[in-house]
Amino acid sequence: MRIVLLTGPGGDAQGWGDMEVTECVRRACEDAGHPARTAYVAGEADFLRLVDSRDFDIVWSALYHITPNEAFIGRGAAGLWVADVLDERRIPYIGSDSRTMRAMIDKSRTHGILSAAGVAVPAHALLRSGDDASAVSYPAFVKPVCESRSVGISDESVVRDEPELRRRVAFVEREFDQPALVEEFLPGDEYTALVLGNGRTREVLPGLVTVEDRHYRSYRILRSDLRGVGLTRVSLAGERTEEARRLGDAAAEALGCLDHTRIDMRADKDGRLRVIEVNGIPGLKPGKSWSPQIYTLYHGSAEGEDEDYRRLIGAIVEAAGRRFGLA
Ligand SMILES: Nc1ncnc2c1ncn2[C@@H]1O[C@H](COP(=O)(O)OP(=O)(O)OP(=O)(O)O)[C@@H](O)[C@H]1O
Ligand SMILES: [Mg+2]
Repeated sequence: MRIVLLTGPGGDAQGWGDMEVTECVRRACEDAGHPARTAYVAGEADFLRLVDSRDFDIVWSALYHITPNEAFIGRGAAGLWVADVLDERRIPYIGSDSRTMRAMIDKSRTHGILSAAGVAVPAHALLRSGDDASAVSYPAFVKPVCESRSVGISDESVVRDEPELRRRVAFVEREFDQPALVEEFLPGDEYTALVLGNGRTREVLPGLVTVEDRHYRSYRILRSDLRGVGLTRVSLAGERTEEARRLGDAAAEALGCLDHTRIDMRADKDGRLRVIEVNGIPGLKPGKSWSPQIYTLYHGSAEGEDEDYRRLIGAIVEAAGRRFGLA
């Protein structure tokens, strides 16, 4: 199966990581027996040229949409959507389809689909400056509706009254040009589940995410300055494993997730787990991103982490290949 790894200026903000990570993914594909090359597309014209070249069997994209924005994902609707173009041309690709990708990038839409399917999510509302906020209960949590890597998340994301809420909604609009998702504050432990493969062979592997207490300030939340700097730890989910597995499985089913996703959850004030978001293109930095770490927790080999990483990448690629009759 000849694979083309698609990335561009937004690859780190939107997708599995920077060019160094992309090279690790590429090598792991090759080691799993699949010739792979990287295509860095600077803009829409590059992207269309690449897909029309058809010198590959399957695409694996680090980008939801084509954009020059390196700093954050930006408004979901901006730029050409990779999965839309691939669907239109009937080109096989790794990962969820366009409808699911669009739903996952928009946390408010994710919540809508999940709650309609009976999957537990926090109480929530999508707010812009000036909107009626009388239904919000406090403390509440305010975040950009379509970002990742804890972009825009700090202790100020927790708001205790309407003036604080309004200030934070205005901040999200100003900094990230998008509405704010306002959620019930979930004070409990945080979990993330690696979801791998499809149908009856789908695996949902939950992990507990922790940071040493001394790094927290007022709240035990993953602020943006705690992300990507080696401070988060992931371990087995212990007695929460079954609950997290069931919740993750129900969420993946409701959204129609394919091949590889990662589902974040937290416990509410009564200790019940709720899905906070579903990541459509989870990070793949060897040894550092949560998916490879969780894979090693559950499927660690005698050969060590590098071999586990190759097996994880192989499992993702082969799950997609089977769907398209390519494997
Ligand atoms: N309702 C909430 N209550 C408490 N903490 C929350 C809530 N929502 C998010 N958080 C905290 O903010 C962090 C980032 O939120 P979230 O996972 O929704 O966004 P993200 O930036 O897209 O994450 P990722 O990098 O996993 O894609 C979470 O890891 C969690 O610690
Ligand atoms: Mg998250």
